[in-house]
Amino acid sequence: MSEVILMEKVCNVSDLSQSPIKGFPVKDKYVIISKIKGKFYAVNAVCPHMSGFLPVGKLEEDHIISCPTHGAKFDLKTGKLLKDVDEEIKEATKSGANDLESYKVHIKDESIFIDI
Ligand code: FES
Repeated sequence: MSEVILMEKVCNVSDLSQSPIKGFPVKDKYVIISKIKGKFYAVNAVCPHMSGFLPVGKLEEDHIISCPTHGAKFDLKTGKLLKDVDEEIKEATKSGANDLESYKVHIKDESIFIDI
């Protein structure tokens, strides 16, 4: 059986005019929409380590988000984990982070949609 992917509206292009990243609820998830060098990207906004809320994390080099809880770093263009949590934190929490889900972005009539 194949998985059904639906295109969902997330926000308007103008919602990203004041900030290059922003979190939005979409269906049962939270996603970050980022605008990097004029292009839009979407990844899950909840850290896979222990659910840190990434939209309030630190943005570095215009495409890297650092989790505000334990500092794992992710590429906002791809969702790839770039730096896992430190060993002491991994030991204490019995887990590390992994990649974020990423979503294909579509722009239509000044609205941002993602496949989710
Ligand atoms: S919750 Fe994000 S690194 Fe731990």
